[in-house]
Amino acid sequence: MKIIAVNGSPRKNWNTAMLLSSVLDGAASKGAQTELYHLYDYNYKGCISCFSCKLKDGISYGHCALKDEITPILKSIEEADALIIGSPIYFGNISGELKSFLERLFFQYLVYEKDYPTLFKRKIPVGFIYTMNVNEEVLDTSGYKQYLSRIEQFAQRTFGYAQSLYITDTYQFDDYSKYVVKSFSGEDKAKRRIEHFPDDLKSAYEIGVKFAEFNFFK
Ligand SMILES: Cc1cc2nc3c(=O)[nH]c(=O)nc-3n(C[C@H](O)[C@H](O)[C@H](O)COP(=O)(O)O)c2cc1C
Repeated sequence: MKIIAVNGSPRKNWNTAMLLSSVLDGAASKGAQTELYHLYDYNYKGCISCFSCKLKDGISYGHCALKDEITPILKSIEEADALIIGSPIYFGNISGELKSFLERLFFQYLVYEKDYPTLFKRKIPVGFIYTMNVNEEVLDTSGYKQYLSRIEQFAQRTFGYAQSLYITDTYQFDDYSKYVVKSFSGEDKAKRRIEHFPDDLKSAYEIGVKFAEFNFFK
């Protein structure tokens, strides 16, 4: 059983990365083999619209023909049993690097036929973890989820199952007194970090346990 995590944050040790590591710990506790990729370590582009993945009898039919540093990650996902993807929210959206990555991941499997069936040969669970500065109330009223739930739908359609975990009110820097911050309180942030973030990590861990024991499709 192999579970792959993809970090769409440029930071390797902060909120998104910590939550992804917790998912992998949960999966490893059930015996899964784990891999974590930090997207910002790789040089790559989003989909270049070559349509080789849709070319009749083409050698790249169903696969991304663009070869660059994420090609091995896409290949590894093809063999994985579960996938977990994390992103910080940047301007109400996923990070630019993750957007480019998802274009390449999803589009190769999408068939231009009625109901857009998938060429991914198996079903695997896919989880998304989104971390953001806004609190839960703003998340619910901001419209963020409208966009993010569409990503979940694309993953569901492509891989067979998807779920999302939204982590709000994250701690953004080590020492709030060093930065210009007036719209929210560093003290409240630190309190939230201590009191709530451990529960967030636990929720992430439980996704890992669930995905490693996954039998939805059996
Ligand atoms: C460029 C940039 C844009 C951001 N835009 C938003 C935003 O629109 N909404 C929000 O809630 N947080 C926003 N944030 C905050 C991050 O989403 C939040 O701190 C996140 O938890 C960071 O993840 P990380 O610690 O894994 O890097 C932004 C941060 C940056 C650097």
